[in-house]
Amino acid sequence: MVKSIILAAGKGTRMKSETPKVLHKIFDKTLVGYVIEAVNNTGLVSENFAIVGHQAELVDEYIKGNYNNTRTVLQSPQLGTGHAVSMALPYLEDYSGEVIILCGDTPLINSETLKEFIENHRSLKSDLTVMTAIYDDPTNYGRIIRSIDNSVQGIVEEKDANSEQKKINEVNAGIYCLNWEKIKPAFAELKTNNAQGEYYLTDIVKWAKEQSLKVDAFVLKDNSEIFGINSKMHLAEASKILNQRVINKHLENGVTIIDPSATWISPETEIGADTIIYPSCYISGKNTIGKNCKIGPFAHLRGDVVLADNVKIGNFVEVKKTKIDSNTNACHLSYLGDSEIGSDVNIGAGTITANYNPLSKVKSKTKIENNAKIGSNSVLVAPVEIKEGANVAALSVITKDIPAWSLAITRAPLKILENWVSKITKK
Ligand code: UD1
Ligand code: MG
Repeated sequence: MVKSIILAAGKGTRMKSETPKVLHKIFDKTLVGYVIEAVNNTGLVSENFAIVGHQAELVDEYIKGNYNNTRTVLQSPQLGTGHAVSMALPYLEDYSGEVIILCGDTPLINSETLKEFIENHRSLKSDLTVMTAIYDDPTNYGRIIRSIDNSVQGIVEEKDANSEQKKINEVNAGIYCLNWEKIKPAFAELKTNNAQGEYYLTDIVKWAKEQSLKVDAFVLKDNSEIFGINSKMHLAEASKILNQRVINKHLENGVTIIDPSATWISPETEIGADTIIYPSCYISGKNTIGKNCKIGPFAHLRGDVVLADNVKIGNFVEVKKTKIDSNTNACHLSYLGDSEIGSDVNIGAGTITANYNPLSKVKSKTKIENNAKIGSNSVLVAPVEIKEGANVAALSVITKDIPAWSLAITRAPLKILENWVSKITKK
């Protein structure tokens, strides 16, 4: 099995934020979370080391709380990418397998690409493989130096490059696969005699060539996979790229998305064919939407939503942690949270599941059984159950369970005071 080292100690000054860079989110997942999951999803990696430094406690707490195969290692002070990797040395003293190195701020890397990258390293029997990309504008990246026979000789950083080297448009993607035992000695020999006075990870390439080890490059097909986040502008752009990938997948699977540019769907959402997503929906977290559903316009699914087939979630309806069975409609202005809703139910406009008690801070469940009809502007105060076929009259506040096939009504009877307006105005 492979081990990974994820570099996440950098400061991220340009984010202009109190939050550490790698803890910024796309949908509900952090940047470093995307990287860890891409690595884990290759199925080839057993353990990850995340190198943390800037606001280390926060990053450490997040990683420990979410990824139990990932250890954090402190790098303080931060003396460069080579120095960062060397922080993991004590944990890998007796390890002799492969190590992949990645950055915590490139959330768009795909696990299939990483898998192919590792397999390529293995099939070429390389000692060191560098992922590279071809850029029209290679500014700011390390350039790949190849010899006449096309073999990789080294990497030169932008700040150290001469004018000829700056013209090279094959760049270092910042992802490496190494045979740990063979490359490990390089870290003791890294120097800081460069323009930035840092220990460059990129220098391991030249070192490996000097030791006559086998070095190869793996050229990336889709450059968006190594899109790195340095600013809020980048974060917005990366979110768009990820969203577009998700939307394309659903379009290919037969989902109708009326306006892809005005629709947000998280990567963990599954959608059945012939479902229509109307414009301005925001669907985050993990959800399963069945076939032939109609979602939106302006619907908000917040995660842990499971919709069976033929469900309608209309405008200004927010749904969270809720399971809804087939042919049920919630077409207008509702909040459905922590609920279980049966089939053929009608949720009238303005229905609210009051799931949260702010005094006890407890969230409770609402259950609505098959064929129930909930009148407009009703409040269902959880925990509460509306049994099969029961009707709730409009404007009711339901604070106890309603038996099957009965009518629940809480509003005061309608009073009409005739000539009331003229009496008042005569005064
Ligand atoms: C690095 C590469 C460059 C490559 C580019 C790809 C080096 C010397 N250069 O440059 O060839 O084209 O990535 O994006 O490696 N980090 C630490 N500790 C440190 C320094 C950095 O953890 O002491 C982390 C950063 O948080 C970041 C990653 O390492 O996640 C890369 O560092 P960064 O400063 O962005 O390197 P680049 O200059 O972009
Ligand atoms: Mg960078």
